[in-house]
Amino acid sequence: MKKIEAIIQPFKLASVRDALKAIGIDGLTITEVRGHGRQKGHKEVYRGQEYEVDLVPKIKLEMVIGADRADEVIDTIVNAARTGKIGDGKIFVFDVGEAIRIRNEDRGEQAL
Ligand SMILES: Nc1ncnc2c1ncn2[C@@H]1O[C@H](COP(=O)(O)OP(=O)(O)OP(=O)(O)O)[C@@H](O)[C@H]1O
Ligand SMILES: [Mg+2]
Repeated sequence: MKKIEAIIQPFKLASVRDALKAIGIDGLTITEVRGHGRQKGHKEVYRGQEYEVDLVPKIKLEMVIGADRADEVIDTIVNAARTGKIGDGKIFVFDVGEAIRIRNEDRGEQAL
């Protein structure tokens, strides 16, 4: 299993969720976060104006998926989240050792 952590522009959340739903990704966690990349926030525009602080609002999506689906999920997120401008975000990929569904103790990919 892999965990995909994607930091995206907030206004791209709906299109990324729709695209993930369309390829059958069910479980997903979303957090409102703030951060900066290599421009340290200074040149980023958010809701039409340049952000004056150095931490820009972003959305973090986390999903654990079968390892064989990682490339498909990454491509889907990239295609749905990209504008081509700075601040589009980043995707980090982690190996996952175990997953357990609390209700019935399904394990591994059965639990996803
Ligand atoms: N190395 C990192 N570690 C953790 N979070 C990061 C890292 N780089 C970027 N982020 C997160 O992703 C968000 C978007 O990053 P961003 O797309 O601006 O990256 P970048 O490297 O500056 O690329 P670009 O030049 O396209 O802007 C940041 O606001 C931050 O929340
Ligand atoms: Mg940046």
